[in-house]
Amino acid sequence: MRASVGFLLAIAALPAFSQNPRAYSNKLAPYVASPTRVVDLMLEMAKIKPGETVYDLGSGDGRIVIAAAGKYKAKAVGVEISPKLVASATADIERAGLSADARVMQGDILQTDFTGADVVTLYLETKLNGELRPHLEKFLKPGARVVSHDYPVPGWKPTRVEKVEGRVMHTVYLYEIQPPKK
Ligand SMILES: C[S@@+](CC[C@H](N)C(=O)[O-])C[C@H]1O[C@@H](n2cnc3c(N)ncnc32)[C@H](O)[C@@H]1O
Repeated sequence: MRASVGFLLAIAALPAFSQNPRAYSNKLAPYVASPTRVVDLMLEMAKIKPGETVYDLGSGDGRIVIAAAGKYKAKAVGVEISPKLVASATADIERAGLSADARVMQGDILQTDFTGADVVTLYLETKLNGELRPHLEKFLKPGARVVSHDYPVPGWKPTRVEKVEGRVMHTVYLYEIQPPKK
């Protein structure tokens, strides 16, 4: 009985997928995980306060989401296009006992409403950061921070830039959303 209910639900979901198959195929950056030292530096530079909302756009295996919820007591959300990475990140979140504060959703970052984010973390590419910039300017409020691993946001001036040595040198850019000019 359970199997047949699951099967019916899966069939019911099919039309939505077939009407919009591109919703799951817009992979705009490869999967490369940020090393732990870089994750630590990104979250430290963002000065996250407990209870703040952190979005990792293109969240990979969920390591930033897990660190933000686990070490900084943030409400952490990952957005990831790859169903496999969403599944493994969700399993890791459950294993870490962080399901109340952390989640990863499958979706396209260019189609995602991240209103309410206090902090956004990125490890994408400069061109994609450029495409994302109007969305960041639309959804983020003054005081929000954007931290980007290795790739700057074109047209924005970072308030802090730090380097961390690993197998290669990594750069982290911090941006702070300013109130609109009067
Ligand atoms: C370089 S990895 C960064 C992973 C993680 N944020 C980190 O720093 O460890 C970029 C991730 O973005 C995801 N991605 C690429 N295009 C995407 C899109 N349009 N929407 C959501 N995720 C996307 C990739 O699948 C990949 O996992």
